[in-house]
Amino acid sequence: MRHPKPLAEIVSTGRYVPSNIVTNDDLARRMDTSDEWISSRTGIRARRIAPDCEGAADMGAAAARIALERAHVDPGEVDILILSTATPDRWLPSTACDVQALLGCANAVAFDIMAACSGFLYGLSMAEGYIAAGRGEVALVVSTEKMSAIVDWEDRSTCVLFGDGAGAAVVKPSNGSGRGILSSHMRSDGNLAQLLWRPAGGVGVPLTPEVLARHDHLVRMEGREVFKNAVRSMSEATHMALHDAGLTAVDVDLMVPHQANLRIIEATAKYAGIPMEKVFINLDRYGNMSSASIPVALDEARQRGLIGPGDNVLSAAFGAGLTWGAMAWRF
Ligand code: ACO
Repeated sequence: MRHPKPLAEIVSTGRYVPSNIVTNDDLARRMDTSDEWISSRTGIRARRIAPDCEGAADMGAAAARIALERAHVDPGEVDILILSTATPDRWLPSTACDVQALLGCANAVAFDIMAACSGFLYGLSMAEGYIAAGRGEVALVVSTEKMSAIVDWEDRSTCVLFGDGAGAAVVKPSNGSGRGILSSHMRSDGNLAQLLWRPAGGVGVPLTPEVLARHDHLVRMEGREVFKNAVRSMSEATHMALHDAGLTAVDVDLMVPHQANLRIIEATAKYAGIPMEKVFINLDRYGNMSSASIPVALDEARQRGLIGPGDNVLSAAFGAGLTWGAMAWRF
């Protein structure tokens, strides 16, 4: 939607990734795959895998702590904590409430959203709406994913793509200087749910010994269809987000896309007219961390000085649902 002037801005970001690095060669030692196959089709060379003792809430809290410190925000000042994850530590209560307790955000309303890889952009969009409605001054958006716990390690066409990690952002009302969220364009299409899903394990198809034996509780993906839909949807959303922000491709200082596949990113950037020199890539080191991928990339780009005051940044995401979206910010 078009914004005459920004209503909310990202004031800080933080990230956390587990220390355990698993390279393509490591995977090739345990399954029938190769570094050449994975890297030539996806651009991925390594990913982080969390240990059993580290859950989504732990990683999310670690990323959020950094974002809060950088914003000089006390946990008690957070009004709303929106957490996106496809890998909650348990079904009840929400992972957001666990993170709230870990951080001590005693005055926040905390809840999970599930929009798969688009979750961070959905969360930011909700935080912006909350702030714009005057319901609070400080929003904490956390995206945390332990994808290694839900991929099927016997399905080489999906398990090699994903990794674990978390990112977070503190969002506050825009201070009137023109910085902030310029546009957001979010969409979903539930008709295409079965392209990327976990068929069982919820209340509709509960866990049984048969379900477990068939691995129906783990991620299933139609890779080629997902690929085609990702390019089409991210390209359309990117176009709309730029249009609504009153920007053209030349105005974009950095594109920070969802890090699923280098070829998807290249096709989206090409469609948008943004040269790859202006596109931030870290999927070679982390793989696809689902909704955590954009905030981790955003945080790395900021830390490396690739985003300066007044820069226009564009993000686009795509994931299970299907869900997709794009956002433009001025930092
Ligand atoms: N190592 C070696 N060979 C493999 C592997 C592997 N890890 N995985 C599959 N193969 C084989 C297949 O068995 C097949 O062999 P066959 O021809 O003998 O049957 C061959 O490689 C080709 O398989 P395809 O699936 O056709 O390969 P494709 O070129 O389509 O690439 C890929 C697959 C990389 C998954 C691609 O379709 C893709 O990237 N899709 C998008 C997936 C994605 O990004 N999903 C996440 C987006 S949404 C989100 O982030 C949650």
